[in-house]
Amino acid sequence: MNSFISWIGGKKLLRKEIMNRFPESFNRYIEVFGGAGWVLFGKDKHADIEIYNDANGDLVNLFKCVKYHCGELQRELSFMLNSRELFLEFRDQYSLNGSTDIQRAARFFMVIKTSYGSDCKSYGCVKRNISVMVDYLTDIQKRLQNVVIEHKDFQNLIKVYDRIDALIYLDPPYYGTEKYYQAQFNKDDHVRLNETLKNIKGKFLLSYNDCEFIRELYKDFNIEEIQRNHNLKNKDGKSNMYNELIIKNY
Ligand SMILES: C[S@@+](CC[C@H](N)C(=O)[O-])C[C@H]1O[C@@H](n2cnc3c(N)ncnc32)[C@H](O)[C@@H]1O
Repeated sequence: MNSFISWIGGKKLLRKEIMNRFPESFNRYIEVFGGAGWVLFGKDKHADIEIYNDANGDLVNLFKCVKYHCGELQRELSFMLNSRELFLEFRDQYSLNGSTDIQRAARFFMVIKTSYGSDCKSYGCVKRNISVMVDYLTDIQKRLQNVVIEHKDFQNLIKVYDRIDALIYLDPPYYGTEKYYQAQFNKDDHVRLNETLKNIKGKFLLSYNDCEFIRELYKDFNIEEIQRNHNLKNKDGKSNMYNELIIKNY
């Protein structure tokens, strides 16, 4: 199934390639940098135990409200309209104190859905059928029924959930694109992630942009390069190709 939101760096186009490279068997699936959860939603069930995690509190609150208060969230959203005025109001309000989790989740959902390229900053000016998007949340709630939702820094999450039979899928902010995310991530965090993954018991699969820094950090692991079409065409009307890396410890 599709995710219910778009997200910067979302793996909508790459998820098949990623899932094709998963190991044959594992009993727990851990999506460390969850975002919109495109890989999680790529299958009805990856494993008996599934964990979705992200450091962005607004995103985690939205996932939790879909899972635990879907009807209330849908009711809150049924009063909302797709307009520039409301977009600007919600954008400036969704993280302020004084609203309930459901109000916060509804405003954040609207900001993602009506912003330009889901950047949560500028109004997208796109006509969208909000009621279809809101109805779809019921399907997402069902999919999340047995998924544990966490709000932790990656290192702490891995420490808690790593086991010999785990598959840990990681899609961190790409090196050089960290500024697009609300959750801070810097060069030291890329190094800290590498140090963490050197010492895990389970299997990991990591998706990254292709650059020298990342290739050097992961030179002792299994690195595969895959070419992908960029959604945006260049000025000559040709598709832009760029490389991504899939890195595994198996
Ligand atoms: C490339 S996006 C993930 C996209 C996701 N795979 C999808 O398909 O939508 C990276 C995510 O990492 C999260 N993040 C940033 N720093 C983090 C940290 N220290 N621990 C966990 N998640 C973090 C960001 O909030 C962002 O949602």
